[in-house]
Amino acid sequence: MSSSASKIMFQVVAGGAQESSLPVKEIPGSYGIPFLSPIRDRLDFYYFQGQDDFFKTRIEQYGSTVFRVNMPPGPFMARIPRVIAVLDAKSFDVLFDVSRVEKRDVFTGTYMPSTSLTGGYRVCSYLDPSEPTHAKIKQLLFILLASRKSHVIPSFRSFYSSLFQTMESQLTASLGAKSDFNKLNDVTAFDFLGDAFFGVSPSSTNLGTSGPSKATKWLFFQLCPLMTLGLPKILEELFLHTFPLPPFLAKSDYKALYAYFSSAAAPVLDTAEKLGLSREEACHNLLFATVFNSYGGVKVLFPGILKWLALADPKLHSQLAKEIRSVVEAEGGKVTLAAIEKMELTKSVVYEALRMDPPVKFQYGKAKHDLVIESHDAAYKVSKGEMIFGYQPLATKDTRVFENGGEFVGDRFVGEQGKKLLMHVLWSNGHETESPTLENKQCAGKDFVVLVGRLLVVEFFLRYDTFNAEVGTLLLGAQVTVTSLTKAA
Ligand code: HEM
Repeated sequence: MSSSASKIMFQVVAGGAQESSLPVKEIPGSYGIPFLSPIRDRLDFYYFQGQDDFFKTRIEQYGSTVFRVNMPPGPFMARIPRVIAVLDAKSFDVLFDVSRVEKRDVFTGTYMPSTSLTGGYRVCSYLDPSEPTHAKIKQLLFILLASRKSHVIPSFRSFYSSLFQTMESQLTASLGAKSDFNKLNDVTAFDFLGDAFFGVSPSSTNLGTSGPSKATKWLFFQLCPLMTLGLPKILEELFLHTFPLPPFLAKSDYKALYAYFSSAAAPVLDTAEKLGLSREEACHNLLFATVFNSYGGVKVLFPGILKWLALADPKLHSQLAKEIRSVVEAEGGKVTLAAIEKMELTKSVVYEALRMDPPVKFQYGKAKHDLVIESHDAAYKVSKGEMIFGYQPLATKDTRVFENGGEFVGDRFVGEQGKKLLMHVLWSNGHETESPTLENKQCAGKDFVVLVGRLLVVEFFLRYDTFNAEVGTLLLGAQVTVTSLTKAA
């Protein structure tokens, strides 16, 4: 196909006919020299340009939001680093269409952590919906989440009010004292999730207070190829980005976490057997869904929400406090699902934080057959087997969809016009207006995540009128250090 912008109709080889009236263009970009260029791209991505600029400079260079590039980590961690990047709100959609992309073993991207880190199993996040176990495990999680629905709000309020009490005492301990929200959240979230999902807080078991550090270490073994720690580049390149860390070094931590799940989640494992899953496979999956998907997610999401609140005009704080307090008062002082549903601004703020900083930034899928990707301006042919990659923070800031897409606008999703934009919020690996099913790859915990995000804002502004914080970056998300809290009058 010529690269000239001719208007053309064409067929997708499999998956039915597809017409496009957009000009067909060749995908720009090149993978360069094998081995060397992927390393150069990795250095650009981590050190010389940084993630956002890595993509933005190439969008400018190629005049296209779809292009070929090598994605880190590359050699030797990933055998094939070559991807087709999709970076606008329209082309990104291809990644949600499991009739067009295969989601087998692409959860972390072009590399896959050793299954020794997950008991020898490929857990749900790595399964394509065409694999029979996918539906069984996702069903189990749906059943679990539905059965614990009434426990989430009381559990959250109990654990997070205690977090805020600790924060207050840290801030009053001395003049100029600060409180590291991430540290407190790391400890609290682990206990909260165990309590909310299984009714057993991990710190009350043999795990004691070691759960969060064991969990964080196990997560690090899987995610370090995607991280920089601020250490000398040569060390990071060698130890984080080139070879996998040996899984046996996290074995005893994993064993201790597994022991908690096999006991605390025993009733869920009974249900798993009825669905045709072995207790063992189900337990490794529950561990992964709780510790990787949920804990890993909340470690990033909550500081992300507080970060945007800290950076916002204090007027937003008073509007939130007013909305939250008046709704709760009208509900007789109770925080209920129905009450939260009425908090339009609170809901909007959480969606906006998820839009600006989707906690999981990368999505991957392999073309199941020859297909066509459409951006706003052009159509591009992709061959079967090619890896498609989306960097979500750019897709959800697309100014063709969101006015001032790069700015945090707290009330963006309020009102009828605002609600129409929700379909472009994509954090859950799908549109916010759609729901996870056994057939798709949308986050099984979508409703839970949105609920706890809202609960954080609600709990915060029931207690405080406003606050100040220092905001920085930490590993895969934001670092928030609170410097002052103004208690509710
Ligand atoms: C999948 C995000 C919490 C269970 C995903 C995916 C994303 C995501 C982006 C798709 C990854 C991909 O295939 O490319 C998040 C975030 C969370 C969170 C940001 C928290 C802030 C949870 C919770 C659960 C959960 C609470 C359930 C207990 C899953 C599962 C999958 C998944 C099982 C795989 C779905 C499938 O295979 O069909 N999540 N998640 N996640 N998430 Fe979540």
